Amino acid sequence: MLSPNMNYSALKESYLFYHIARKTGAYLAEHPEKRLYRMGIGDVSLPLPPAVISALHEAVEDQGRKDRFHGYMPECGAPFLREAIAAHYRKRGVRLSPEEVFVSSGASDELGDLQDLFAPESGALIIEPAYPAYVDACVMAGRKMLRLPSGPENHFLPLPTEGLEADLIYLCSPNNPTGAVFSREQLSRWVDFAASRGAVILFDAAYEAFIEEDLPHSIFEIPGAESCAIEICSLSKTAGFTGTRLGYTVIPKALARRGMNLNAMWVRNRTTKTNGVSYILQKGGAAVFTEEGQRQIRENIGIYKENARMLMAALDRIGLRYWGGRNAPYLWLACPEGMDSWAFFDRLLREIQVVGTPGEGFGACGEGFFRFSTFASPEDTREAAGRLVRLLGKK
Ligand code: MLT
Repeated sequence: MLSPNMNYSALKESYLFYHIARKTGAYLAEHPEKRLYRMGIGDVSLPLPPAVISALHEAVEDQGRKDRFHGYMPECGAPFLREAIAAHYRKRGVRLSPEEVFVSSGASDELGDLQDLFAPESGALIIEPAYPAYVDACVMAGRKMLRLPSGPENHFLPLPTEGLEADLIYLCSPNNPTGAVFSREQLSRWVDFAASRGAVILFDAAYEAFIEEDLPHSIFEIPGAESCAIEICSLSKTAGFTGTRLGYTVIPKALARRGMNLNAMWVRNRTTKTNGVSYILQKGGAAVFTEEGQRQIRENIGIYKENARMLMAALDRIGLRYWGGRNAPYLWLACPEGMDSWAFFDRLLREIQVVGTPGEGFGACGEGFFRFSTFASPEDTREAAGRLVRLLGKK
């Protein structure tokens, strides 16, 4: 009899955001008159920028014209988009060739698919609290995991210590869920650690566009990273592509282990397992990297940052301790009165119809914490902030 991948039996019953959607769906079924203020999943509320929309329209027109039509796209990405992304990195002082940039259909797809590059016996190090897709992808692959807990004592930015074991190191900065961002010095410690062990860092830079202080946007700003890191990035939060799907991955040509070149391996993987991302989406994506596109995404990010300020002001008034919100679109707070995070979730849902994400969903050390996303509309965020103050503010 066929044996399914039995590693699935070790997964939690359902994925965090799916579980929350089921809980909120059940609440609404019981209370159809209520309206929810959704600060849970990090899904954007602003539409795609006009520069992207007009590029998408033009690309649709191209597909209807014999002389401009595109069939299969190159599996690793259209040269025009790979070049635009490499040029964007150059502005930050990171030199990449377009062949080191792989266009993807989004960071979460890619974070799972990249597991193919590593032997199942290579263990993964995951800093927790963590984006649950890292853990689930490792469980599905049957990969051994070492969870490195973080907390207020290290500002959710743990550093490698003597004796730490890891082959594959997941780093996310700005961090989902805590909003913490590694400094150059801290990232250099991780790069040195990975290089000294022959490990590879999977650097999730999905939230880099939210950095406003002098902090690294890319692991490749750190000397030496080109021979021990892969960077995964996404246009989802940067430019509103959560429903449109587009991202990219950087695998330097200098990255090799045991005589195998990881860039060449990924070319081999993509040419077998994908037929590339659609021409239309890649044209839309290229518009993000134009001057106009960059100006427009900055305006949208500014609106989400204003949401963060409203929520931070509310938490200040209530007197709750929180992290993130400045260089990241997430606020990570300590639940009031030592409440556990799912109990706090239920309380906010039932009493003020505000939806957040329980910290426990990001790993055991997330218990007692809670995450708010700043991607809702300003109107909903203002209402949610007001409701929080009324519920939790000192009477
Ligand atoms: C989140 O809320 O953590 C994100 O939306 C997850 C994702 O990007 O898939």
